[in-house]
Amino acid sequence: MKKVIAIHASKRKANTWKMLTQIRERLSDFDIEVEIISLYDHEYKDCLGCEACILRGACVLIDDTESLMQRLSEADGIILSSPVYMRQISGRLKTCIDRTCKWYHRPALAGKPVLVLATTKGSGLRQTLKYLQSVAVQWGAIPAGTVGRTIRDIGNPIADKELSRFIRMMDRPSSFQPTCGQLLDFETQKSLASYLGGLDEEYWSQKGWNRQPYYIPCRINPINRFVAFLFGTFLRSVMKGG
Ligand SMILES: Cc1cc2nc3c(=O)[nH]c(=O)nc-3n(C[C@H](O)[C@H](O)[C@H](O)COP(=O)(O)O)c2cc1C
Repeated sequence: MKKVIAIHASKRKANTWKMLTQIRERLSDFDIEVEIISLYDHEYKDCLGCEACILRGACVLIDDTESLMQRLSEADGIILSSPVYMRQISGRLKTCIDRTCKWYHRPALAGKPVLVLATTKGSGLRQTLKYLQSVAVQWGAIPAGTVGRTIRDIGNPIADKELSRFIRMMDRPSSFQPTCGQLLDFETQKSLASYLGGLDEEYWSQKGWNRQPYYIPCRINPINRFVAFLFGTFLRSVMKGG
């Protein structure tokens, strides 16, 4: 049985919660167990901005973040959900995402599919879903589908096609085809790792990513691959020169 961790980021168990429980029910038909973690049931402190996690590998704050990150890294898939607040994710979720910053430098979720979900009265859905997907990319994970609802369609049941990519990616992450933008992101992170050295460089070379076009073996459009290669080579030569 596959295990999915779903993050719920509203104080109340209402619109987003209902969508999550619906998704949980649908996924159980595919032998996928979903555990919902409500961020308001735990303690997540604000990032201090000290960069200890990036430079020394561990956060100095003691709360539930480490255990959440551990759970996410052990899961077969992740659902990131949020109500739309002021046309973006909720502050609680942003606080937690900030605390995962070391995963931007040393991605720990490579090859893991992430489904993103947001609910809103009417505005901000597109940018909120887009932001959540960009978080998945920054984690090195696979953005594997979006579910969004407004006040007009909140009653619409979850369609199979909204979950199909997420389910497929859990079984076959190698069928993922990164976009040109995602390949450029990878090259940027790769270049940063070699520029910053230390923990980052060690981690990237241990993973073998400094010699690869992407985190996981997957389908890559040859033109995009070439563009990303040129971009990465250029970036590293600029960084070396500076
Ligand atoms: C602080 C706050 C900010 C909100 N901002 C927006 C917004 O920018 N656009 C919008 O259409 N709805 C907005 N809403 C409405 C919520 O996005 C919407 O009701 C959502 O489905 C709530 O999810 P929940 O029931 O899971 O808490 C806001 C609600 C709150 C409480």
